[in-house]
Amino acid sequence: MQTSRGKLIASFAGVTLLAALAVLAVAFSSSDTPPPLTSVAQAPVAQAPVTSGKPAPLKPALPLGISSQLYALAVAPGQEPTAQLAALGDKLFDDKRLSVDDSVACKTCHEPTKGFTDHRGNSATSAGVQDKHGQRNAPTVLNAMFQASQFWDGRSPTLEEQAKLPILNPVEMGQKTPEDVVTKVAKIPEYSDAFKTLFGREPTYDDIAAAIAAFERTQYSGNAPFDRFLAGNPQAISDQAQRGWALFQGKGRCSSCHAFNVVSPLFSDQKFHNIGIAAHVKNFSELARNALGILKSGDTKQIDELALQTSYSELGRFLVTKNPADIGAFKSETLRNIGVTAPYMHDGSLATLFDVLDHYNKGGVPNPFLDGGMQRLALSEAEIDDLVAFLFTLTDDRFAEFNQAEMARQTALKTNRPQRETEIAEGRKGDLGDIGTNPDLRNPASIGAF
Ligand code: HEC
Ligand code: HEC
Repeated sequence: MQTSRGKLIASFAGVTLLAALAVLAVAFSSSDTPPPLTSVAQAPVAQAPVTSGKPAPLKPALPLGISSQLYALAVAPGQEPTAQLAALGDKLFDDKRLSVDDSVACKTCHEPTKGFTDHRGNSATSAGVQDKHGQRNAPTVLNAMFQASQFWDGRSPTLEEQAKLPILNPVEMGQKTPEDVVTKVAKIPEYSDAFKTLFGREPTYDDIAAAIAAFERTQYSGNAPFDRFLAGNPQAISDQAQRGWALFQGKGRCSSCHAFNVVSPLFSDQKFHNIGIAAHVKNFSELARNALGILKSGDTKQIDELALQTSYSELGRFLVTKNPADIGAFKSETLRNIGVTAPYMHDGSLATLFDVLDHYNKGGVPNPFLDGGMQRLALSEAEIDDLVAFLFTLTDDRFAEFNQAEMARQTALKTNRPQRETEIAEGRKGDLGDIGTNPDLRNPASIGAF
């Protein structure tokens, strides 16, 4: 055991070193000193430039686990947000006056102290103005800047386009038109002044979105115990969590969709899969046919409303692509900070990480559009515990206390396992067509990982 763990760490140290060299060689060849990849930078937000006067782009203070290459992919060098613009975006993100009745801010559903997700009450999905509930669970905004697309179905290509939608959605912030928003914001002197200073004009809807997106581009998150483990500290996570990491890549098959490597550290392939969460929809084909009848080409606002307000929500990615292979498919969400972002899945239907593991263990829920990557796993209860322990090591240190509290809360709920189907998981019951139990039941530590 000791030997294999030693090898595991050595192998990662090698990868990290190579990546660090690549950073030196490529990303910062014409720039100042690179932030070392393995530094334990505690500061979660970027540092403001020392120079006063003319706004300068923020130098990112990247946390352990978030590589400079990844940052450079998301934010072109020289295009980093300025401190002033990010601060304006932060203010807008927190401001309930952006909603139609001054009751809901972005922050209401993405609470920064709670991992930027919604922890109000016990409901699975978020509530907007007048306590109206949508169909979907709020994902975290942390590291959203690195995603290939935004929303569970990827309907927005950029943070800017994303930010424009909740303000206008009737069950979120409830504004009727972009003009209404702009008029309201322009009447608030502090905003009117700030926009004039930063953009040289009264606010426009695009400028409002640009400021919010600039703030979101300062919300990168790493510094998890798992990052310290990969950086070469074997004590950073427990033996149990280390077994969970091996299962994650081996017998659990998780990394086939929650892909991870040093330059792509979000635990997501950024693709869309039907894993059977929406499988309670019995008439997927009929629903899809009806959707095709009403979908107007390229109308993101229409997709936004169908996704949040109607049962078409469960069609997932299909609403965006109209490709039958995408029926019931949703984005493989990032697993960073997963310990503090319960409940889980696009509809918030799984309350704990134990429920998530029970779901995967039985191969998801059968439906005609289930992703071929879903298989019964035959994980033992101890292996489920290992995987859950691993998932709780992916939380940024700034939420360490909340992560502990969540682990205790979820562990206390462990006796209630609505998703558990042990006989199906072990291949002794149920019908998944010709899909049998994952046949490779050798020691997970020795397969798949390296
Ligand atoms: C009423 C609750 C609510 C409010 C208010 C709200 N959001 Fe969200 N947010 C959600 C939900 C729910 C989703 C997922 C919707 C979907 O995927 O269909 C989401 C998705 C997102 C995403 C995509 C993240 C990902 O992983 O794909 C970002 C970014 C985001 N919101 C930022 C914002 C910003 C910026 C504002 C304010 C302008 C805002 N949200 C207002 C609930 C809310
Ligand atoms: C076939 C691809 C696939 C595989 C394999 C897979 N996942 Fe997922 N995962 C997804 C998708 C897609 C979602 C979002 C699904 C939805 O909401 O309908 C998701 C969601 C999750 C979530 C909830 C994310 C959130 O923010 O709510 C967790 C936790 C998770 N997966 C963990 C795992 C673990 C642990 C494994 C291995 C046992 C695993 N996944 C295997 C594709 C996959």
